[in-house]
Amino acid sequence: MKKNILVTGGAGFIGSHVVRLFVNKYPDYKIINLDLLTYAGNLENLRDVEKKSNYEFVKGDITDESFINSLFDDYKFDAVIHLAAESHVDRSIIDPLSFIRTNVLGTGVLLNAARRQWKEHSDKLFYHVSTDEVYGSLGEAGFFTEETPYDPRSPYSSSKAGSDHLVKAYHHTYHLPVVISNCSNNYGSHQFPEKLIPLMINNIIKKKPLPVYGKGENVRDWLWVEDHARAIDVIFHNGKIGETYNIGGFNEWKNIDLVKLLCSVMDKKLKRAAGESAELITYVKDRAGHDQRYAIDATKLNKDLGWKPSLQFEEGLDKTVDWYLNNTNWSDNVLSGAYQEYYQQQYVLR
Ligand code: NAD
Ligand code: DAU
Repeated sequence: MKKNILVTGGAGFIGSHVVRLFVNKYPDYKIINLDLLTYAGNLENLRDVEKKSNYEFVKGDITDESFINSLFDDYKFDAVIHLAAESHVDRSIIDPLSFIRTNVLGTGVLLNAARRQWKEHSDKLFYHVSTDEVYGSLGEAGFFTEETPYDPRSPYSSSKAGSDHLVKAYHHTYHLPVVISNCSNNYGSHQFPEKLIPLMINNIIKKKPLPVYGKGENVRDWLWVEDHARAIDVIFHNGKIGETYNIGGFNEWKNIDLVKLLCSVMDKKLKRAAGESAELITYVKDRAGHDQRYAIDATKLNKDLGWKPSLQFEEGLDKTVDWYLNNTNWSDNVLSGAYQEYYQQQYVLR
């Protein structure tokens, strides 16, 4: 069936994997990638699909109401997969308002455009890609399920919780067909090297200090980004309207254990002496309000829709390290803003 699908934030880390999957797997769908190309958005991530006839890029801001309304009028979207966001917790602590603007207002503008345009709701879908951080922080035991009450603690997670609530409110009040997924920490290729795994990989390559917050005892639950994209595909096509699905691979790691694992994997790949990279580990001041532990129970997604992760963590990490070792130019360019400058010149804001 032919569909016009708006993907927001498609030039970012997860968005680029979602765009690639949909463009390649569904030649009948037209994928319109809307992205502002902030520091985190980079069209280099989509070089391999940019010339495909079922792909189009539009540069624009999800918080710009008249632009978004005109985009909906022009393209008559059948569905939205909304990923555009400010996504880094540390940045949200420094600059909370930009998170509130993009994540809360931006989601509200998109929802409202969909409500305005979609007079006939039955075959439409607004899919909001969200995070497990909306559930708060766990102690030693237990998991986040779809029934866990929201308890966000950082400006980032609060802004994502706010956007989730708006999505649910548009469903409840206006019967907008929506679905939400809340996923755990992603890792893989094309992740901006400010997040734990790519930052550590880059610093190990460059023999720079590896900053571990606090005692490194915090726990995160890691999922390979391509498995997240596959889960989004499954939920997009088979998820029940109005439902929430948790996405995760039951793969918890203490930060310090993960960093040590990375060090030993990379010592071998870089032909360094065992233990050499681990000497770079440096304990630094803890993140303000640092959530202790996240752990996702993804049973519903598995039972109802048959999704499960395709990769073991060690295999995914190995692939990820290889990608960063083979793409040091990419990391240097995104960190220096070089790609950003290049693409900003080519694409004018609509
Ligand atoms: P990212 O920071 O890599 O990418 C975000 C993208 O959004 C960038 O391309 C950026 O240019 C774009 N963007 C930002 N502001 C915009 C605006 N005003 N208008 C249009 N585009 C804008 O983020 P990511 O890690 O790929 O995360 C994508 C989504 O998935 C986010 O909504 C995030 O909350 C969610 N999520 C992320 C993770 C994770 O581990 N990274 C886990 C669960 C959920
Ligand atoms: O759980 C899903 C969330 O995971 C997503 O919604 C967010 O968009 C994504 O950024 C991620 O948030 P985290 O804060 O968990 O990810 P980050 O990579 O920033 O940090 C992972 C853990 O590592 C966290 O406990 C903080 C710690 N850390 C992080 C950095 C950047 C360090 O110890 N040192 C570091 O330099």
